Amino acid sequence: MPLVSTRQLLDEAAKGGYGVGAFNVNDMEQIQAIMSAAKETNSPVIIQASRGAREFAQDNYLYHLMLAAAELYPEIPLAMHLDHGNSFETCESAIKLGFTSVMMDGSLKTDGKTPATFEENVEVTRKVVDYAHERGISVEGEIGVLGGIEDGHGAGGSGLDHVTDPDQAVEFAERTGVDSLAIAIGTSHGAYKFTKKPDGSVLKMDLLIAIHKRLPNTHLVMHGSSSVPKDLQDIVNQYGGKLKETWGVPVEEIQLGIKNGVRKINVDTDNRLAITGAIRKVLWETPEKFDPRDYMKPARAAMQKVVALRMTQFGQAGHAGDYKAISIPDMAKGYKNGTLITKPLVAAK
Ligand code: G3H
Ligand code: 13P
Ligand code: ZN
Repeated sequence: MPLVSTRQLLDEAAKGGYGVGAFNVNDMEQIQAIMSAAKETNSPVIIQASRGAREFAQDNYLYHLMLAAAELYPEIPLAMHLDHGNSFETCESAIKLGFTSVMMDGSLKTDGKTPATFEENVEVTRKVVDYAHERGISVEGEIGVLGGIEDGHGAGGSGLDHVTDPDQAVEFAERTGVDSLAIAIGTSHGAYKFTKKPDGSVLKMDLLIAIHKRLPNTHLVMHGSSSVPKDLQDIVNQYGGKLKETWGVPVEEIQLGIKNGVRKINVDTDNRLAITGAIRKVLWETPEKFDPRDYMKPARAAMQKVVALRMTQFGQAGHAGDYKAISIPDMAKGYKNGTLITKPLVAAK
């Protein structure tokens, strides 16, 4: 299948009542791991690259690796998404390259650190939506700010510092016309999300449900959704790593989210842990080895295992063959003639 729009994947997920994992990549092995997991579980999938990933891998390498994935797995609906775009220009360059969806994270200023005002967020997101929809590309916005910092991106601090206000979420969705909406409910990026298994005082699933009630047809996005499982932490530490004890987002909470409008679930850290644990194990147990394939193969397999498990847990497994790709030019027509709805359904309080 050619690269498809994330909007199509999420519309189909809403029809089927499941969520779609969006997995971050920086290199070929991570793309291979995700595609093997998608084939193994027969899943549609979103592969996403951050600004840091684009810089690390270089745009052209990334794009052509994604084309290779689409070519090798014609039966898998596959979207290529920009994660945490910090400006109109970043989103524009991703669209020009061939990304089929972008996130305009206007919750932060272009420095990727300072929380932006609501009006600034609306203005830049609306500008990206106008540009993207004309070209058939879907847009994710963010309202509220996540905690933590990844690769210099993020406000830092706790996930509870700037949780999403439901009224603002409604106004934001109405004024921007985004295809999906990332909300802040107490999660943060990276491994250190919670100091114990999270309860409702730190992971605000009640807030997510309240937002879904007001915006029943809007595709919600959960960022910072790694579960940071203890077994992956243990492997890293068993072979010389020094991770401090930590908790992520329990899968059952994500599943509750999926029952309440969550259609896209962002996962990066769990895969980073799986890769690092596998590499550490090989180098620790067989220090005489120096062929990168000796540790990259188990690393890729460890990531495939995590991704396949998440695909099953999120419910996307088995759904790759449900639909045919809508071409990106046809998506553009859909936005223009109004068959692709961008005005959210808003329920009374
Ligand atoms: O947004 C967070 C993702 O985990 C990407 O992280 O910016 O370090 O590539 P990164
Ligand atoms: P994690 O750090 O929890 O994997 O979150 C990734 C993410 O939200 C990417 O945008
Ligand atoms: Zn994120």
